[in-house]
Amino acid sequence: MILLAIETSCDETSAAILRTAEGPTTLVSLVILSQDIHRIFGGVVPELASRAHLTTLGAVVDQALDEAHVTLEEIGAIAVTAGPGLVGALLVGVMYGKTLARRLGVPLLGVHHLEGHLFAATLEQPELAPPFIALLVSGGHTMLLDVAAWGQYRLLGTTRDDAAGEAFDKVGTLLGLPYPGGPEIERLAAMGRPGRYKFPRPMLNTLNDNGPERFTFSFSGLKTAVLRAVQASDDLERDRADLARAFQDAVLAVLVEKAWAAVTDREYPALVIGGGVACNRALAAAATARLGNQARVVVASNRLNTDNAAMIGAAAAFRLARGEQSGSDLEPRADLPFPGLTSTPVTLGTTT
Ligand code: KG4
Ligand code: ZN
Repeated sequence: MILLAIETSCDETSAAILRTAEGPTTLVSLVILSQDIHRIFGGVVPELASRAHLTTLGAVVDQALDEAHVTLEEIGAIAVTAGPGLVGALLVGVMYGKTLARRLGVPLLGVHHLEGHLFAATLEQPELAPPFIALLVSGGHTMLLDVAAWGQYRLLGTTRDDAAGEAFDKVGTLLGLPYPGGPEIERLAAMGRPGRYKFPRPMLNTLNDNGPERFTFSFSGLKTAVLRAVQASDDLERDRADLARAFQDAVLAVLVEKAWAAVTDREYPALVIGGGVACNRALAAAATARLGNQARVVVASNRLNTDNAAMIGAAAAFRLARGEQSGSDLEPRADLPFPGLTSTPVTLGTTT
């Protein structure tokens, strides 16, 4: 079956064509149009994002069809991100998907954006299967998940305040870098001297308590620490790369240590890292070094980690195969609940 997937939750307008059948889902084409306009404002302006989706989505879908050599009539199902995200931006994709599904008389499925990030790596590694620990780190979310089976997720920890990607973006602004800050900080950090600045590793101490905050993250205090250091600097040109390095080292240390502890507790064979921050190669390298021979670290290529429709199609293929589909009453939700997620606090064994 040929699946058309659409993603418009934030500032990427994306469409993908996937082939699903018995066996693995394969990606046939993927078009991602990143909205540049937000750079001028130093962050995503929701109203401008919706308008840009509205203007370009039709052309983006046409391009995905063209590249796949597929006609509209050949489409067997449509998947669209239904949340979480900017509600106006989501609405554009959902309305488009609903209208087209009705016109073609094919099933429609609303997909959770984070479940999409979770499935991204399966497009490149079809053999990837639970159980594993997943670290989902994006501009809006930070989640450590125990993935016992596809569709069966236990939330081990999330962030109290800023998401990991949000912290990168805010620190990018403090350092005078263009939006989004994540890739810029990674580039600068590679040139920075390690250890010249030392920032706190927030919430790392909770790892040994075995309490409900064991896998909780917090990044806003770290951002304040960077702000103080920026204010104290008499030459930001000289110090910028060292500050970026110290900030990135602090974020990565906490993410990796908590992910390692979860993998160790569960004795799982793999850690899957997904979401925009997973584009950070220093994160993948640090996780690989920390896990050593204990478990493998799975990270998709950058194109599949930042927001894209292919991952939405991959998650949809799993749900459609289970007989799920949305009704014509599908509505976008900024706070859509993660399907299959339980968040009962669990007491795990101590790993140190
Ligand atoms: O998943 P994503 O594309 O959008 C959301 O769902 O939020 O993630 C975007 C986030 C931004 O905060 C961006 O700065 C961050 O991912 N990001 C990075 C890198 N590339 C993107 N963060 C750190 N290092 C990177 N190389
Ligand atoms: Zn995302």
